[in-house]
Amino acid sequence: MEPHPRDPGRAAWALPCLLLLALPGVGAQAFSLHQPQDKVPVAAGETLTLNCTTSSMPVVGSVRWLKGWGSENKTIYDQRVPSFFPRVTRAVDGSDTDFTIHIRNVQPEDMGTYYCVKYTKEDSGEEVVFRRGNGTEVSVQAKPSPPLVSGPEQRAVLGQSVPFTCTATGFFPREITVKWFKNKNPISAQQPQVSEWRVKTYNMSSTVKVTLQKDDVLSQLTCEVQHSTLPAPLRGSFQLSRVLRVPPIVEVDTKPSPAEVNKTVTFTCLVKEFYPADVSVSWLQNGIQIKVENISRPSELSSGLFRLESQVEVQATEEKNGSTITCRVVHDAQAPANTSAFLWISNPAQGESSKGSQMLKDDMLIYIVVGVVCTVLALLVAAILYLIRTKQIKGKSSPSARLHEPEKSSEATTQESDPNNLTYADLNFEKERKTIRRMVEMSQQSEYACIQTNRAPNGDDNLTYADLDMVHLSKAPKRPAPRPEETGSEYASVQITRK
Ligand SMILES: *[C@@H]1O[C@H](CO)[C@@H](O)[C@H](O)[C@H]1NC(C)=O
Ligand SMILES: *[C@@H]1O[C@H](CO)[C@@H](O)[C@H](O)[C@H]1NC(C)=O
Ligand SMILES: *[C@@H]1O[C@H](CO)[C@@H](O)[C@H](O)[C@H]1NC(C)=O
Ligand SMILES: *[C@@H]1O[C@H](CO)[C@@H](O)[C@H](O)[C@H]1NC(C)=O
Ligand SMILES: *[C@@H]1O[C@H](CO)[C@@H](O)[C@H](O)[C@H]1NC(C)=O
Ligand SMILES: *[C@@H]1O[C@H](CO)[C@@H](O)[C@H](O)[C@H]1NC(C)=O
Ligand SMILES: *[C@@H]1O[C@H](CO)[C@@H](O)[C@H](O)[C@H]1NC(C)=O
Ligand SMILES: *[C@@H]1O[C@H](CO)[C@@H](O)[C@H](O)[C@H]1NC(C)=O
Repeated sequence: MEPHPRDPGRAAWALPCLLLLALPGVGAQAFSLHQPQDKVPVAAGETLTLNCTTSSMPVVGSVRWLKGWGSENKTIYDQRVPSFFPRVTRAVDGSDTDFTIHIRNVQPEDMGTYYCVKYTKEDSGEEVVFRRGNGTEVSVQAKPSPPLVSGPEQRAVLGQSVPFTCTATGFFPREITVKWFKNKNPISAQQPQVSEWRVKTYNMSSTVKVTLQKDDVLSQLTCEVQHSTLPAPLRGSFQLSRVLRVPPIVEVDTKPSPAEVNKTVTFTCLVKEFYPADVSVSWLQNGIQIKVENISRPSELSSGLFRLESQVEVQATEEKNGSTITCRVVHDAQAPANTSAFLWISNPAQGESSKGSQMLKDDMLIYIVVGVVCTVLALLVAAILYLIRTKQIKGKSSPSARLHEPEKSSEATTQESDPNNLTYADLNFEKERKTIRRMVEMSQQSEYACIQTNRAPNGDDNLTYADLDMVHLSKAPKRPAPRPEETGSEYASVQITRK
């Protein structure tokens, strides 16, 4: 170092500088570097500001920002090559004293202690550390990711204890609180497991076990995460219906049962209270599939469960008696559940025969009674006829009868009481004896029958003949014979309804 004798004023100004350079101890004392921040928290993604100011002592050499010290150091900013650090900008561009920098989009890995360092140039041209600041500890506060709740891969059945896991990642600091709720009711869970993911970044995993119930189709599981970086807790939820399987209750209803031959029987398969809705119903008759055109859709119940009815109609032909009708339900790709019913056909022969025999009994009774009565009547008639016949044969009478018309003047109303209103048939039919017969009247021994007909005589000239085989003899009170009669004569009285 040489003085500049040509310019004493200038030399006078330069002297302290030279002195400083010549005496590093003095220069170091005069030069000041101020790094005021001790600790700086910054949220991930934000811009970090690191303050550093120096005195305006002109010292040859750059100012840099280093992260870490010793072998772990990393140059964040170098005054000589500012464009080399795209994330870093100067707060006061081109300033000799303010070396405050901004680092944008801070990441958890940016966490560390930052040093503002003044270098000085050696003769060799190499720069060595001249001064450094006290260092600023930067902590990157990272918010946890929104929690995710996961359940088992497979659906679980009722009553099973199922683990659910809540995860939140990428947070800092490490401290985190996890709470679980099932439909807003807290459930106890173990402490969350926190693991370091990257530098100064943590992941969290919390597991809870839930026993599934039927009404959990509408239940929700919530994982609530609280962290220092969060103004309000973050929540993740899980619908328990996603992992729940409620197998259906299957019933088969048969109407009518037993069925009459050739009637239609309706089998209804009631598939009750299942979840999820994925269900298929098929019908089998003795193990062979029956075609069903009508496939109804599951309907949702208020409980969130589903219900389905499937109907199949079967013709109740006799040969199908005792057939097994099966409703096969495949729910949620599970093993099929079979529920069977039988097709019973009532035996028409049996039913009718029993009815018929009953009918037969009733009829028989009637027939027997009628038969007996008829037989008795027939015998009676035959006996009477026989008696009459024998008497006729004795009297050699002919089988014709002449009716005696009553007097026209007599009253019609008193036919029965008035013997004059009766028309008599003469049963002694010898022509020559007719004259005699008119005079003749009944004797005590004589018998007569009263013949009732519906036809009135046409006139006086016409004779009414009665075939005695067909005559219904009705008993009438015996009338005293009006006059004594010739012995051997017989007659019958015939009563005719008059107009
Ligand atoms: C830097 O550290 C020294 C000693 O540890 C202390 O005396 C000084 O005040 C500190 N400076 C600042 C700016 O904190
Ligand atoms: C840091 O530097 C900026 C820009 O120069 C300034 O606005 C801020 O007040 C400084 N902060 C501290 C703590 O010195
Ligand atoms: C920074 O690290 C390099 C290489 O590892 C080393 O040569 C240098 O001395 C270190 N600087 C500081 C200030 O620790
Ligand atoms: C932490 O979470 C991230 C993002 O979800 C994942 O990629 C990483 O594997 C997790 N690390 C650990 C240790 O769990
Ligand atoms: C039922 O139907 C079959 C075939 O149509 C017929 O042969 C049979 O007589 C019917 N039976 C009755 C009881 O109707
Ligand atoms: C299917 O069943 C429903 C209800 O039982 C009925 O209303 C509908 O008409 C049926 N459809 C066919 C094609 O049979
Ligand atoms: C239902 O029937 C099918 C086929 O016949 C059979 O594979 C299955 O095991 C049966 N399921 C039950 C529960 O009986
Ligand atoms: C059907 O079978 C049942 C039981 O075996 C029997 O009682 C009934 O009489 C049968 N019906 C016909 C129509 O054969």
